[in-house]
Amino acid sequence: MEGMERRDFLVGAGLLAVAPTASSAGQGVDWGTVRREFRLDPALTNLGLFYLASNPREVRDAVDEFRRRLDANSHDLMPEQAQEVAVALGQYVGGAADDIAFVPNTTMGLSIVYGGLKLRAGQELLLNDQDHAWHQQAARLAAGRAGAKVRIGTLYENPAKATEDEIATRLRNSITPQTRAVGITWVQSSTGLRMPVRACAAVVTEANRDRKQEDRCLLVVDGVHGLAAVHDDPARMGADVFVAGTHKWLFGPRGTGMVWVNPEVSGEIVPMLPSLSDRSETALLGPGGFHAFEQYFGVRAAVRFHQRLGRDRVAARITELAARFKDGLADVPGVVVHTPRDPATSAGLVCFDVPGHSGPEVVELLRQKQIQITTASYRIPYARVGTSILNTPEEIDRTVREISALAR
Ligand SMILES: Cc1ncc(COP(=O)(O)O)c(C=O)c1O
Repeated sequence: MEGMERRDFLVGAGLLAVAPTASSAGQGVDWGTVRREFRLDPALTNLGLFYLASNPREVRDAVDEFRRRLDANSHDLMPEQAQEVAVALGQYVGGAADDIAFVPNTTMGLSIVYGGLKLRAGQELLLNDQDHAWHQQAARLAAGRAGAKVRIGTLYENPAKATEDEIATRLRNSITPQTRAVGITWVQSSTGLRMPVRACAAVVTEANRDRKQEDRCLLVVDGVHGLAAVHDDPARMGADVFVAGTHKWLFGPRGTGMVWVNPEVSGEIVPMLPSLSDRSETALLGPGGFHAFEQYFGVRAAVRFHQRLGRDRVAARITELAARFKDGLADVPGVVVHTPRDPATSAGLVCFDVPGHSGPEVVELLRQKQIQITTASYRIPYARVGTSILNTPEEIDRTVREISALAR
């Protein structure tokens, strides 16, 4: 939905300011109105909204409505709704509904993909030291069952200065004929670096040039911190598999996620578990049994919410706030920002160190000031802020001031 049509839609929904806002990334969206669609704790500055989503009103309403229908008659499993969710997610990621499977979260999605990959003894899965621990664990469990192994590489020296060339060169040098899959993270939750997925895909394509289909190396992307934070089509970045929880930046119901599989390689991944869905070969990857259907069906409302705002505007707002935070920290003596300054190689996560305090200490000290930030259990747990469209420039400035006080 572009131009006037989308503008009318936003005005109709009360999300678009009639007068243009001062902010360039605002581009007419009234972010205050958007925030009021959520039931956030007003006393808290929450810079960890990406962690597990708060749901906007229309998602809550959709979930309530599906729950009401299931309570009225739980035989009414509404298969058409599953199709609608697949169509909505397909549109949103730039792929086809048939190439999407539903999973409860990123971890399960990655586990199902690596676990179902036709992997032979002696082959390997190549990940890197900045992939999430559960991503690495999913690969290790799968490799262990197949008699294969996991190799963990390092794709750059310094995240803040990493270049596409450095990453591509290191990846090229790490792939061997035994490498059956390369796993990367679109936006790393350890460093905030946005990985050059297309450049990695080009390296994998080159490695596949003389390989048979059954030996083909697949590029698996953990995309959870890029989905609904970066303005790009995940299904068109050259990856073979894209996995993301829809319960983080997308604001979908908790316990929901998706896997997209390039149809050219769907035959390489077999289901790990019985499935409820026979929509398509890829849909069969979604684990079966009955689910919290009202949660799954509510994903469509989350996609619609984002489509109405516009993925471009959402990404621009996230970037604008992240840039404001990085600029603020640049003036605080001793603070080291590990995330690149360049919006082309970063998104909404900003990782940093405050002199004299560990990451967990910074989280605790800011909590005492009613500021919620996070850290992650990587080798070095940096303090980490996520700039959501629900945050305000004032919240960013206040957080910078409090960090500045800690750094003194
Ligand atoms: C990069 C990354 N991948 C995967 C996960 C796990 O996500 P989920 O809770 O959807 O399984 C996280 C956790 O927040 C993460 O940061």
